[in-house]
Amino acid sequence: MRKQILLSLVAILLPLSLWGAGILSCASPSGASRFTAGDGTFLLSGKPFVVKAAELHYPRIPREYWRQRIQLCKALGMNTVCLYTFWNAHEPRPDEFDFTGQNDLRSFVKLCAAEDMKVILRPGPYVCAEWEMGGLPWWLLKKKDIRLRERDPYFLERVDKFQKKVAEQVGDLTIARGGPIIMVQVENEYGSYGIDKPYVAAIRDMLRRNFGADVTLFQCDWASNFLNNGLDDLVWTVNFGTGADIDQQFAKLREVRPKAPLMCSEFWSGWFDKWGANHETRPAADMIAGIDEMLSKGISFSLYMTHGGTNWGHWAGANSPGFAPDVTSYDYDAPISESGQLTPKYWALRETLAKYNDGKKLPAVPATIRPTTVKAFRLTEVAPLWDNLPEAKHDKHIRTMEEYDQGFGSILYRTTLPQTDSPATLTVAEAHDFAQVFIDGKYIGKLDRRNGERTLTIPAIRRGARLDILVEAMGRINFGRAIKDFKGITDRVSVTMERDGTRWTADLTGWEVFNINDDLSVYNSMTFRPIAEADRRDGRLPRGVYRGTFRVTRPSDTFLDFSSWGKGLVYVNGHPLGRIWEIGPQQTLYTPGCWLRKGENEIVVFDILGPREVKCEGLREPLLDNLLVHKPLTHRTPGQVLNLKGRTPALTSEFKSGNGWQEVKLPAPATGRYICLEATSAHDARDIAAIAEMYVLDESGERLSREPWTVLYADSEDMAGANRSADKLFDLQESTYWQTVGGTPFPHAVVIDLGATRTVSAIQCLPRMESAAPGAIKDFRLYVSDTPFKM
Ligand code: GLA
Repeated sequence: MRKQILLSLVAILLPLSLWGAGILSCASPSGASRFTAGDGTFLLSGKPFVVKAAELHYPRIPREYWRQRIQLCKALGMNTVCLYTFWNAHEPRPDEFDFTGQNDLRSFVKLCAAEDMKVILRPGPYVCAEWEMGGLPWWLLKKKDIRLRERDPYFLERVDKFQKKVAEQVGDLTIARGGPIIMVQVENEYGSYGIDKPYVAAIRDMLRRNFGADVTLFQCDWASNFLNNGLDDLVWTVNFGTGADIDQQFAKLREVRPKAPLMCSEFWSGWFDKWGANHETRPAADMIAGIDEMLSKGISFSLYMTHGGTNWGHWAGANSPGFAPDVTSYDYDAPISESGQLTPKYWALRETLAKYNDGKKLPAVPATIRPTTVKAFRLTEVAPLWDNLPEAKHDKHIRTMEEYDQGFGSILYRTTLPQTDSPATLTVAEAHDFAQVFIDGKYIGKLDRRNGERTLTIPAIRRGARLDILVEAMGRINFGRAIKDFKGITDRVSVTMERDGTRWTADLTGWEVFNINDDLSVYNSMTFRPIAEADRRDGRLPRGVYRGTFRVTRPSDTFLDFSSWGKGLVYVNGHPLGRIWEIGPQQTLYTPGCWLRKGENEIVVFDILGPREVKCEGLREPLLDNLLVHKPLTHRTPGQVLNLKGRTPALTSEFKSGNGWQEVKLPAPATGRYICLEATSAHDARDIAAIAEMYVLDESGERLSREPWTVLYADSEDMAGANRSADKLFDLQESTYWQTVGGTPFPHAVVIDLGATRTVSAIQCLPRMESAAPGAIKDFRLYVSDTPFKM
């Protein structure tokens, strides 16, 4: 195995040195190639070219394996690598740029060229990608009123600086200058953020200035919104997932630009996982059918992801509305697994792509690394958090993490509580993202942002009692308007109590604040001692940093199992492997063999809950589908029945058949806080109802914000193999959907709390994207009510 890793290293280093010596190169700059949008097809040096791109993100793959992963994509039948640059990884602090190691963009692009693969560059600034804050650096939030992804002068100035650095790295590697980069993307799916052509134009102009006027620029968006921000002089591409009706997805583009080449710039092979939710998979057959159809029609594509890799360290993002932090693995159910294994999807796809290889044989599939086991071991030392707090800062009012110049990790807020005679309510508005509350050192409870938890009942308080709120930040939101995601406590903390017969609320002030950055150097600077069983409380060892070593005889990839640990972050030999959380579904962390040593290896685990056991072992297979949830994923308790008797619908109508958005107006606007959509039949005459997205419009015809929405009830939710729960109605993702379980008869109903009393004038619905919109609702009734429905 060691030999295999060494061989791959040689394979990587040799071409790099040849490049350096000028022996390997692409076309000469003088015989400049061009990549352009021609009549119905892309043109590479004047010849028709169908882009078959594999999406790979270099920071998500161990650098030692880059070349092998690119070769795997080439052997799959791909001709291009499509990649994002993550601004926050490249500029961790203002003006401190990093293009080395895992961030060495230039070397990665050159490796693609050495493998004769073209490159599509997507430098953001925003990328989404389930990556912390969608790639934007957290330190932008130090300017509290910043307008992200808008024409905020400071934002644009920082984007320009970053883009210039990217151009310094790879600006000379565009196709016009003899390199592999055929296209560069302007922003990312701006349509799901807003409508602002001048902003998109500003990013375009920057790219032209930084990369030269001869580079082909494109925009990617959804079929439903690409026109909102489409700039006339850019190539337009469309993103959609496997299973979608492809002709339908391109219908609008074909109509407005009949001669444009077509490209699905993100064809989603699978989907990402969130903590506390089912592991996501997507059928191979749908992916194959989509690729086959596109290629048979000469449509270009990028398969997102072809190999997803890993959200090392603290880089996993979170989704919104609500707060749904992503897990560490970015396996994505892609053809090449997180650890580089070839899945059945890989082989099926290779067979399909072989048909479209101009009659040539596909390159041989390179050797893969076989994961191995590591014998069970135990960590030996602990640095309890409470004994290792950094120096405190003092503040009258609560401030966010960013205001203390802290980007990641945990933050402890400490103050003295007022005396109360009886139990009181503590309100924390808001703890981002996982808070634990202690009074006089005793654990009282937690506030989990995923569940919208903001209050805790606390026992009667003696005079001078100490309150500690320990808040752990998870990934910043990477999608939608909520990307402006401050960490720590973002507003205020108050106690509501009864004293002398009256009820009153006091805002707490006078804080001691402890910033616990998640750097390994911070953990290593703590004072360690042997782990003692006597420290165990309520089944757990202390919160804190654990350290130990494990022996490896022949280093190879493995999956370290953290099932007996609580919640936190893991480092092995100084490499940040990522977050762990006992709720799952992910229980193991991918540990690349190239980061292990023969003999002794060092492991550090920061556990903010405290482990149940300090054991660990390396497994041959990952555990990505082991959910131990504390929160119900569906929205109906056993036996619960919705009772709409005596209610008058605000609207009784029907949706048209087929794909695409549709709107139905209410005969008269209706006011209330709760809505119930009751579907009574489907167009395909089956018993299943499905909706991808839903909006309601206010009295002036504007879409209501769905940020405060929660699902109170859904009669049926199909959770087999994916998350088809009713909250998918408003998750901003057109490719995910609420779907009922087959065999459960109509009517199907969902009840939503709008968060406040609102006036509703119309409903907008998007059925599933697949051909003929399976489960599309026909007849329905919409109820609007001041009180929650009887359930
Ligand atoms: C969109 C974004 C990507 C990624 C996918 C979902 O298409 O552009 O960055 O977030 O959704 O995986």
